[in-house]
Amino acid sequence: MKQAKFTLDPAFRIGAVDPRVRGSFVEHLGRCVYGGIYEPDHPDADSDGFRKDVLDLTRELGVTTVRYPGGNFVSGYQWEDAIGPRSERPRRLDLAWKTLETNEVGVDEFAAWCRKAGVAPMMAVNLGTRGVQEAAALVEYCNHPAGSYWSDLRAKYGAKEPHDIKIWCLGNEMDGPWQIAHKSARDYGILANQTAKAMRLVDPDLELVACGSSHRRMATFGAWEAEVLEHTYNVVDYISLHSYYKPKDGDFASFLASGVEMDAMIDEVVATADYVKAKVRSKKTINLSYDEWNVWYHEPGDESEWAVAPALFQDQYTLADAVVVGSLLNSLIRHADRVTMACFAQLVNVIAPITTVNGGPAYRQSTFHPMRLAFQYGVGDALRVEPTGPEVETPEYGSVPQLDATATLDPETGDLAVFATNRSLTEPLQVDVDVRALKDVRPVEHLSVHGERDAVNTVDDQERIVPRAQDVPVLEDGRVRFELPPMSWSVVRLATAR
Ligand code: AHR
Repeated sequence: MKQAKFTLDPAFRIGAVDPRVRGSFVEHLGRCVYGGIYEPDHPDADSDGFRKDVLDLTRELGVTTVRYPGGNFVSGYQWEDAIGPRSERPRRLDLAWKTLETNEVGVDEFAAWCRKAGVAPMMAVNLGTRGVQEAAALVEYCNHPAGSYWSDLRAKYGAKEPHDIKIWCLGNEMDGPWQIAHKSARDYGILANQTAKAMRLVDPDLELVACGSSHRRMATFGAWEAEVLEHTYNVVDYISLHSYYKPKDGDFASFLASGVEMDAMIDEVVATADYVKAKVRSKKTINLSYDEWNVWYHEPGDESEWAVAPALFQDQYTLADAVVVGSLLNSLIRHADRVTMACFAQLVNVIAPITTVNGGPAYRQSTFHPMRLAFQYGVGDALRVEPTGPEVETPEYGSVPQLDATATLDPETGDLAVFATNRSLTEPLQVDVDVRALKDVRPVEHLSVHGERDAVNTVDDQERIVPRAQDVPVLEDGRVRFELPPMSWSVVRLATAR
């Protein structure tokens, strides 16, 4: 069996993993809100109409932050439609997804759901069809304590205490021609700057995210980030990144190596943000919010004609997809110094790890498992991992390391976790980790997501893909050894002395 090696040393610290990289996304799209988090007629709904099974799975997943209400949806959204008595809320055409929006759920309901789920909301404002005034008003509605028009209206509608939403996205994917009221980098940069200033006048403690590129293959990638940040550098804290992956023309070798592209995009956006930092002579560093990432199969285009909550983009995820999701999580962890927020898109039903049946059960898709494990064990400091070992050939990325690995060490507990993807479709891999720089190492467990490439979990067979316990790693002469099955993603847990 081929072998890969690396050394773990607490001195090689990348940075602390920010809990906010364990984020997700709820958009008014398909059955994410209606039939996903909210289904008042469901037997398991609580008194606010939220599905308790979805709340339970959200907590089990370990999500910390949830972005809302879009996505492309936000670029035509009028948030005022979805406040106050439900019977008076208008039904609107949602132009982004050709759906009928009932507005039964709005910012007050979402804030209530977040409190129940134990997550922080990350709110997006409409910088497509709307602008400065509406965004500032929404901040006032959500965060101003009392005594003004919007804050008093919030209290009148039942939320006396402010929602206190601190993380805000300045629009969504404004580089994309598909976006309602898409803009040039210059026009967006100017609008984002003015909006940010007004929002901060209402609440100075906000953290603001400027829109970066919708994906790395956009013709404007790089130039967009540079120009937007030149207009906004001093008033924003983050630049966003979005990426979705899928196997193209049956090329699973490249698909398993999708993390190579995510790594590259992160490095390029860091370089661009730091170029602007130099150019504008700023002392501040802009970090990265990878606020949409996932595997996504269905192409936009199969939207319904003005239905309420149609079943859009309900991808059914395979074992291969779960392995890729695991390796994308590895990429986020190894960039802990600069990627300090991230949201997998989306939480439920729409390209999601949780699937529900209307009136029926909710279950975990294959991708749920690497997310839960990485969120649970990827805590503390990310450690630098530089593996040597065999390579695999990929049509898209050339020759890439067979082993994709990263690690975290929790300084509070001494718990260490190695996250490892075996990118070979057919070959197992032995991994040899030099742990001599760590004290009192004790192997704890090895959990692996692997199996048949196209296997999926379904409502009738919900446990086809679950993490499987492997042999506990062997410790010998200051080295920990374990074996990765072909096409797998693993977490290997070790205890160490603090
Ligand atoms: O997550 C689905 C969609 O993907 C979002 O609405 C949009 O921002 C992206 O293109």
